[in-house]
Amino acid sequence: MSNDIKYIVVDKFDHQLLSEAARLHIEHLSYRSFITLFGNKFMVELYKDILADKLGFFIFALEDGHVCGFVLGCINSKQLFNIIARKFIKYFMIIFPRIILNPQIIPKLFETLFYVNKENTNVESELIVIVTDINHRSTGVGKQLVSVLDQEFLKHGVHQYKVTVHDEMKKSNNFYVKNGMKLSANFMMYGVKWNMYINQLE
Ligand SMILES: CC(C)(COP(=O)(O)OP(=O)(O)OC[C@H]1O[C@@H](n2cnc3c(N)ncnc32)[C@H](O)[C@@H]1OP(=O)(O)O)[C@@H](O)C(=O)NCCC(=O)NCCS
Repeated sequence: MSNDIKYIVVDKFDHQLLSEAARLHIEHLSYRSFITLFGNKFMVELYKDILADKLGFFIFALEDGHVCGFVLGCINSKQLFNIIARKFIKYFMIIFPRIILNPQIIPKLFETLFYVNKENTNVESELIVIVTDINHRSTGVGKQLVSVLDQEFLKHGVHQYKVTVHDEMKKSNNFYVKNGMKLSANFMMYGVKWNMYINQLE
């Protein structure tokens, strides 16, 4: 693990950090993720509202003040839908031009908004996304992000959380297993198989 990397917990809006996180999210997960299609502004607004509603927090791995990895933890991911519903006009204005250009994304949009129902679990807290920059992979940054996330969840009184990932993303599935998460269920979304893991904290 690099000694030059600092790990910080962020639960308040910081434009620079959130837009660097959105860039990483879009750059490294667009081939698998759907909401990244809506672009940097959409992602930053969503992150910002999650923090404003005290629904979650980020752990950033910083090198020279710049984000080289992050994880977003959410206390209750069912509430994510409420954020978008409550500020529907704001989000609609951002995504509308992309829907016009690409109307076939509408069914996926509905699937995404209601995806928590597919999981069939009572576990409310969730690791929403974790990404490390390509130049920092396999140096322990991901493991450290999960470790700080776990401590932060515990501080919030959360003793278990879930994470979902495409079955095909073998490296990410292995990463979760190596970091203590146990496979709990599978479900289908966007026509592909997803795995849900649960991390039970001590
Ligand atoms: C999944 C992801 C976050 C893992 O991050 P990472 O920073 O590479 O994680 P780590 O370095 O802690 O662990 C990765 C591997 O490096 C190994 N490793 C850790 N420190 C190491 C070191 N100092 N030297 C060599 N290997 C090391 C780990 O044992 C692990 O090995 P494994 O792949 O054989 O299990 C990263 O690959 C990523 O961003 N992927 C794209 C986004 C994604 O798929 N996210 C998950 C879905 S939301």
